[in-house]
Amino acid sequence: MTWTRNDFPEGFLFGAATSSYQIEGHGMGGAGPTHWDSFAATPGNVVRAEDGARACDHYTRWPEDLDLLRDLNVDIYRFSTSWARVLPEGTGTPNPEGLDFYDRLVDGMLERGLKPAATLYHWELPQPLADRGGWRNRDIAGWFAEFTETIMGRIGDRLWSAAPINEPWCVSWLSHFEGHHAPGMRDIRATARAMHHVLLAHGRAIEVMRGLGLSNLGGVFNLEWADPADPDNPADVAAAARYDAIYNRFFLGGVFQGHYPAEVLEGLEPHLPQGWQDDFATITQPLDWVGLNYYTRKLIAAAPGPWPGLTEVQGPLPKTQMGWEVCPEALYRFIMRVANTHAPDLPIYVTENGMANADRLQGGVIDDPERLAYLDAHLAQCRRAIADGADLRGYIIWSLLDNYEWALGYEKRFGLVHVDFESLKRTPKASYHALERALRRKGG
Ligand code: FCB
Repeated sequence: MTWTRNDFPEGFLFGAATSSYQIEGHGMGGAGPTHWDSFAATPGNVVRAEDGARACDHYTRWPEDLDLLRDLNVDIYRFSTSWARVLPEGTGTPNPEGLDFYDRLVDGMLERGLKPAATLYHWELPQPLADRGGWRNRDIAGWFAEFTETIMGRIGDRLWSAAPINEPWCVSWLSHFEGHHAPGMRDIRATARAMHHVLLAHGRAIEVMRGLGLSNLGGVFNLEWADPADPDNPADVAAAARYDAIYNRFFLGGVFQGHYPAEVLEGLEPHLPQGWQDDFATITQPLDWVGLNYYTRKLIAAAPGPWPGLTEVQGPLPKTQMGWEVCPEALYRFIMRVANTHAPDLPIYVTENGMANADRLQGGVIDDPERLAYLDAHLAQCRRAIADGADLRGYIIWSLLDNYEWALGYEKRFGLVHVDFESLKRTPKASYHALERALRRKGG
């Protein structure tokens, strides 16, 4: 590492993140079926049809995982609560084991001096709600409010922060237009509805949490920078702007400005639910912070065919195991854009950043210099943004553990800690050890 904690402003927080379905093991503890189980059981959707039934068995090994976080010297643990574990039917009777699990987990964080940063929904929609139309059904805002009330009624009193929904773009566009994630739809009307309802559900959850007296509430948006494949071709420039509008500006603009970009309405307006304009009062509930998940940028070219009329082009930059280009500069640009345009008065956190690498255990050691270089380069851009006046307050790494990388199964390794998916043994990688040193506290 080319930095230590002392190179950041006093009080700047570091953290690591995971999510429930990706690590817990959904086969345990009375969790209900989720749309990810159905998606994974459908041939062709997920590499080797792998699912989250066992994952990292965090459900039983959580004390060891929290010890790893404590020993890493991070301040924040960003985790998520599974809707299907808490309410196996999606609504109605809670699963007491599920509530007890999150209760113990939060206490375990506090005992180890970790700040619990909860995300309510990181994609494991209860199957009974998917059967009722899932994110396409406007009722999901009410179902989600009920889940929020149930889980936050139990753990909300001890959280450091809470955010309703991880990555609205993935929940809606990736899952209903591109079909790459559960429920695997490819339908423009379903997409438009999911995009709007995910923001409505976000707003309702914020209202519920305010009502319960919770504070430090935020929103977590995933952002991807779009550059035109040929900057001299106006059609490519327009296509990149459309990509940016769909991916980034729709969600940030909806939540912070209360409107959707014209480039998106051009394609989706006929498919939005009636009266969508009236929902902005709920969608724009004031927040206390904004979280940015950032991994990569894309090169976009115009393509023939219906809206959105664009395609991705291979870029020239070095790539991670995901095939994603490494472009730290775009993290800086996004922090500055959010600070200057969308949320000028709010603290900003990088709530996810990290890379997948084909890490191999050799002689008991995992050397991952690529990950160290990636983190170094992105943290340098964070310092640059702070120097240029952005109110950036923290940086959270994806991920603590190698885990279930959705449609790509267990093959893509994002962890600071290696997991052997046969024995479930955890082995900290070289990047973990370097971070542990860089994050030592003064006098610690
Ligand atoms: C993000 C997700 C997270 C993980 C990383 C690689 O989009 O929030 O669950 O899959 O990407």
